[in-house]
Amino acid sequence: MDTVVVAGATGYLGRHVVAELAARGHLVRAIVRSRRRAESPGPHGAPSLSGLVAEWAEGEVTDPGFVTGLCRGADRVISALGVTRQNANPWDVDFVANLHLLADAEHHQVRSFLYVNVMHADIGRSLLLRAKSAFAEVLRRSPVAHQVVNPSGYFSDVGDYVGMARRGVALVPPGDARVAPIHGADLARFCVDRMGDVNGSWDVGGPDVLTYPDMARLAFEAWGKHPRLVTIPGPALTATVWMASRLGERSASLAQFFAEGLTHDAVGERCGTHRVGDYFREMAANHDA
Ligand SMILES: NC(=O)c1ccc[n+]([C@@H]2O[C@H](COP(=O)([O-])OP(=O)(O)OC[C@H]3O[C@@H](n4cnc5c(N)ncnc54)[C@H](OP(=O)(O)O)[C@@H]3O)[C@@H](O)[C@H]2O)c1
Repeated sequence: MDTVVVAGATGYLGRHVVAELAARGHLVRAIVRSRRRAESPGPHGAPSLSGLVAEWAEGEVTDPGFVTGLCRGADRVISALGVTRQNANPWDVDFVANLHLLADAEHHQVRSFLYVNVMHADIGRSLLLRAKSAFAEVLRRSPVAHQVVNPSGYFSDVGDYVGMARRGVALVPPGDARVAPIHGADLARFCVDRMGDVNGSWDVGGPDVLTYPDMARLAFEAWGKHPRLVTIPGPALTATVWMASRLGERSASLAQFFAEGLTHDAVGERCGTHRVGDYFREMAANHDA
């Protein structure tokens, strides 16, 4: 049984990671901004952390003073920390905060550090992907045993199609990029399986390999509706990125991140049992969109 520090424990993936670790008998030290929020169920069906956490560390990961000492006495670290929809600069969180956590892990000689990156982060030009790939690179040079997991999109994100289908029209990007969306519980199992003393890096996705139109059609099927898809023209995507760049660095980074993500294949090793169609049907049945 290991003591595992989990950063990003209140996120979609982080909650599933905590649940998986606890189910395997590990002691979890959860880094959270709000224990109260952590102990409530998360969005997109992610579990509450109530009863799953042995030690709470409540604070701001962007404060180096808070991060110092978080790894004392711990065996391993899993970081699912990163900016997705939060109003924050990804460089401060995905790169700098993870860097401080790694420094603390090295100082306290933890046995391993597993980092949840994004598939193809190294070819991305957005600030978010540059921050993530920069941290992955630093981690690869660390003396601590390290694992870098590069997932495709999560169910929490592709679920947006269910809301679009409910409203009657789904937007799809140009081209025929394929993704393999993965459920948080399946990815958490993959991560905890890889956590250990051996270095490695894995591209991973769920069992379904789908284009965006395939995904949109599954969302319409979930509501029993005839599909209506509108393809965003390539120039419109480019113009959106340009307009977002006028609004500031964060908007520019987000728009660039989505534009890049929507137009490149992200499949990886296929793992897990949760199917996109079942998830969409469940969302529609629960009116969770
Ligand atoms: N979503 C996807 O489709 C996808 C695909 C591939 C890779 N990833 C990567 O996988 C990781 C987990 O993603 P997710 O979808 O589970 O994200 P999420 O639900 O947004 O969770 C991110 C976690 O990071 C924390 N965090 C973010 N900004 C923070 C800030 N400024 N200060 C303190 N904590 C902050 C969040 O804390 P709060 O709960 O307090 O906000 C949360 O615990 C991320 O690194 C993401 O880049 C995501």
